[in-house]
Amino acid sequence: MTELVVLVILLMISNLGTSQSNNNNTNTTNTPIRLSCGINPVTSSSSLFSSLDSTITELRSQLWNKDVYFARAHDLRSLDLVYGLAQCRNYLSAAQCVTCFDAAVSAIKTCSSVTGAYVFLDNCFLRFENYPEFYEDPQAKMDVKIAPTLICGNQLASETTIFNQIVGELLSDIRVATPRTSNFYVASTKRLPSGNTTIYAIAQCVESVTQPICEQCMNISYNNLNSCPPSKEGRTLDFGCFLRYSQTPFFQDNQTTNIIHFLSKGSSRKLGMIIGASVGVGIILLIIASSLRYKLRKKPKIDEGKHELEGVKAYKYTDLRLATHNFKEEYKIGKGGYGEVFKAVLDNKNVVAVKKLHDGYGKSKLEFNNEVKLISNIRHRNLMQLLGWSSDGPQVLLVLEYMPQGSLDRFLWGEKRGTLNWKQRFDIMVGIARGLVHLHEEFHVKIIHRDIKSNNILLDDNFQPKIADFGLARDQPEDQSHVSTLFAGTLGYTAPEYATHGQLSDKVDTYSFGIVALEIISGRRGTAVNLDPHGNNYLLEHAWELYESGMHIELVDKALDPNEYEEENMMNMIEIALLCTQSPANLRPIMSEVVLMLSSGGSFRRLQMTRPTVIHHHRRIHVDAKGLHQM
Ligand SMILES: *[C@@H]1O[C@H](CO)[C@@H](O)[C@H](O)[C@H]1NC(C)=O
Ligand SMILES: *[C@@H]1O[C@H](CO)[C@@H](O)[C@H](O)[C@H]1NC(C)=O
Ligand SMILES: *[C@@H]1O[C@H](CO)[C@@H](O)[C@H](O)[C@H]1NC(C)=O
Ligand SMILES: *[C@@H]1O[C@H](CO)[C@@H](O)[C@H](O)[C@H]1NC(C)=O
Ligand SMILES: *[C@@H]1O[C@H](CO)[C@@H](O)[C@H](O)[C@H]1NC(C)=O
Repeated sequence: MTELVVLVILLMISNLGTSQSNNNNTNTTNTPIRLSCGINPVTSSSSLFSSLDSTITELRSQLWNKDVYFARAHDLRSLDLVYGLAQCRNYLSAAQCVTCFDAAVSAIKTCSSVTGAYVFLDNCFLRFENYPEFYEDPQAKMDVKIAPTLICGNQLASETTIFNQIVGELLSDIRVATPRTSNFYVASTKRLPSGNTTIYAIAQCVESVTQPICEQCMNISYNNLNSCPPSKEGRTLDFGCFLRYSQTPFFQDNQTTNIIHFLSKGSSRKLGMIIGASVGVGIILLIIASSLRYKLRKKPKIDEGKHELEGVKAYKYTDLRLATHNFKEEYKIGKGGYGEVFKAVLDNKNVVAVKKLHDGYGKSKLEFNNEVKLISNIRHRNLMQLLGWSSDGPQVLLVLEYMPQGSLDRFLWGEKRGTLNWKQRFDIMVGIARGLVHLHEEFHVKIIHRDIKSNNILLDDNFQPKIADFGLARDQPEDQSHVSTLFAGTLGYTAPEYATHGQLSDKVDTYSFGIVALEIISGRRGTAVNLDPHGNNYLLEHAWELYESGMHIELVDKALDPNEYEEENMMNMIEIALLCTQSPANLRPIMSEVVLMLSSGGSFRRLQMTRPTVIHHHRRIHVDAKGLHQM
């Protein structure tokens, strides 16, 4: 599983600070600063090249057509998956961006058949790999962690002391501000007191990383770059972020970002407080609540040490490693967005699931422990119970209930296809909705799941659903706000306003629930295309087309026995699912309303439904979140 991708830094540590001439902009800086080709040879190079080409074509068209500075794409069909990521600095026009992108592509094409490569230029960055994890965790699977590269110019500034100070202040400001902006990009300038020198600086994180990773990357890069002055210019290159300053203007004076409000603590705090319950408060409430509950119950104190919280136990990494036979492949029972899951037997009796979170999870122990506290207090029959955790080893481990039946998708289109009857399916829908009501409306901190999909729903022996993967990392602290740039969902299940604009609300989960409900009814995957003979479309679009022509009963899974359900009732269920997928988000019901509608069998108040925004998908490339810009 752990495939080692060792990277060799090949060439071109060139162009170091030599472009000090009077060039004003972009054109001359499309020279690769650093190119690295992976050394893993590909097995079948022909298909790799075509995959790479189509991925590149897709990235280019996103950058060109969508007026975006960040694009991800991957080829779906080929055996050799190629995942690509491209980013331009935001001071460029679309044309300049594509020019740089083309230069990056030429550089990458000099790599022979390898499964991954990346190239940095001043104006853009391009990377491809044969796995997608690097989107969110730029260091993922890198066996050799490439230290950030620091490149300082050769020419020195004259007024050294003041120059160093001003550059230091400027870099510090943009380092702090960048992770707080919506697009992880800041351009700023600062003038020396003498008045005739201005320092230009930009900072940019890869848009798909989380805010903590952006912040961490900024801190490291800032600390490095701060050693460049009195060089007139400098840059740091890292997988997660880019930082550059120069005495030579490399963007227009009117292209700077207003960062004042990201720097003043007062206003940003205020914003945080206006928007939803801040997690700090949440955690305090939680501690008060749990200690109260503890006292009221007068539970005899078990001597499990201070790590015991409400039955959630801190385990030693070594014990869990042993219980999973050193994470042996044959004990692996699943793989989710956060990591791999293994079956384990603890204390020779209890069967549990141990989730090994990805390396470089990018979180401090403290943050993690706070998260564990938060999710360990969530108890609901439709939410997966956390039993324990370990944070003393190289990876963070979570101990969870073991669900022998596995995830819902197996029963809808996987190996157990067709084995659930309508009654079971209906109960599963209601169960998922109830679990979400608990997260959204009943727990004292509103938790938005963001990634509801059939393989995040596990079934117990009675086919009761339990929602997994809630409350972790990406769903946390600052993200209580309504706006988040961090895309944490799965394409096809994710509400359009969240996928494209990062607008986060509980209605994002309502939307995903609607898709899952359609899957439960139809037995078809929400992300599948080509559902009708007339063209490419998603399940949702297909369902709407049927609904609009009054034929939605045809959506129902042919594997279901028609004697088990009434058509009228089934059509109501489909309509409830469609209500959940409307856009804009405020048209969607909240989850407690959904539970009511489901349980009333569909005798709810009819409203005019709005056609959802459907993501069209005519090309063979999988367009990623940021690429769904224009729908
Ligand atoms: C760069 O400077 C030249 C003149 O020196 C000017 O003609 C050109 O428009 C400038 N380009 C940009 C992108 O500002
Ligand atoms: C750079 O600019 C010059 C004109 O200033 C133009 O002829 C040339 O094509 C440009 N190069 C690229 C790579 O855009
Ligand atoms: C900067 O301004 C000072 C006086 O304000 C002047 O002496 C110096 O020559 C100027 N430097 C440049 C590079 O123009
Ligand atoms: C980054 O540095 C700032 C200032 O030193 C600090 O407050 C913050 O905790 C650091 N963040 C990370 C993720 O290291
Ligand atoms: C920025 O300034 C340039 C000229 O220097 C101008 O062409 C451009 O329209 C300005 N952009 C904005 C957003 O004001």
